[in-house]
Amino acid sequence: MKVPFVDLHAQYLTIKPEIDAAIARVIAESSYIRGPHVDAFEQAWAKTLGMKHCVSCANGTDALYIAMRGLGLKPGDEVITTAHSWISTTETITQAGGRVVFCDTDDETFTIDARQVESKVTPRTVGIIPVHLYGQPCDMDAIMAIARKHKLWVIEDCAQAHLSRYKGRLTGTFGHAATFSFYPGKNLGAYGDAGCLVTNDDQLADWCATYARHGGKGEHVMEGINSRLDGLQAAILNVKLPHLAAWTEARRAVAAQYDQRLKGVGDLRLPGIGPDRDHVYHLYVIRTERRDALKKHLGDAGIATVLNYPKALPFYPAYAYLGHKPQDFPVAYAHQSRILSLPIYPELSDEMLGYVTEAIKGFFAGDGRTS
Ligand SMILES: Cc1ncc(COP(=O)(O)O)c(C=O)c1O
Repeated sequence: MKVPFVDLHAQYLTIKPEIDAAIARVIAESSYIRGPHVDAFEQAWAKTLGMKHCVSCANGTDALYIAMRGLGLKPGDEVITTAHSWISTTETITQAGGRVVFCDTDDETFTIDARQVESKVTPRTVGIIPVHLYGQPCDMDAIMAIARKHKLWVIEDCAQAHLSRYKGRLTGTFGHAATFSFYPGKNLGAYGDAGCLVTNDDQLADWCATYARHGGKGEHVMEGINSRLDGLQAAILNVKLPHLAAWTEARRAVAAQYDQRLKGVGDLRLPGIGPDRDHVYHLYVIRTERRDALKKHLGDAGIATVLNYPKALPFYPAYAYLGHKPQDFPVAYAHQSRILSLPIYPELSDEMLGYVTEAIKGFFAGDGRTS
């Protein structure tokens, strides 16, 4: 048996007639850039979150960059964010002119350790970017309290957290803005790059929409960039959005099965959930001291696993200039050699799931069993 890490084709087959019709419609209308499908998706996503504005753009990385430009980031401004994320979160801080200030993560949830954020605030700090990593919300009460106290903006990086909730409230609705990625493998994914930001701030939404489209069509009120959601991606997202809640439940069901079947196996540490948090399991990440050997064992059995991510951000060459040492971020550093993401997607069958969990049990039982 082969178990892929995600299976986008399996999902396509469940909605093929709707997707094919939507693509055909965009082509028949030639509504490739902007147009009714993009407008419809922006409205539908804003409504789903209960936010006033959704500004679509080319991808989740641009969404972060555009939001920071919109919030007026200036050279030398410091932005505090997690040591454990995909590099989009931090490369955009630098590109928008700011300085990256890393904070260690919480050992249980992999998200930014809110207890440490305040110690990173300096007179130059302007904002915080909490990342709801793997689909689990950060401790938003604590983060928003620090932001209020120090008059900082907050951009929630929701790239992995569509429909996750903190204290019953959807992530993406706490900060001054929130950014989403609709990269194909995300919980809500297009068939190419796509992204957006959401906000309740009219002025910010207007500035970001103008900036993302060359500083205005017809009248260029400023120099902008070209970052657009295209009509085909929007039409695909419009088809997929009504399925998102059910797909999220299916992910939770897979996670619950992993929890149940892998409990107490070897030295495995299964994903922990912080209080009042609702996980949407973009990724299901286990920990073990024998990570590399387990990864190889599963690979040999035809089971794909991924490292999200091979290193904590401060330890990549891109951030060598900051001169950080492992003891600066002991939790994130310890995770980088132990984490392993197992296959998780709504269409993962019970048979496949059983194959994965038996292979893991076989590894720890030491008998090489893969089925
Ligand atoms: C945490 C996080 N932030 C931002 C992004 C950027 O999204 P995109 O790939 O759409 O640019 C990603 C995507 O992988 C992500 O995982």
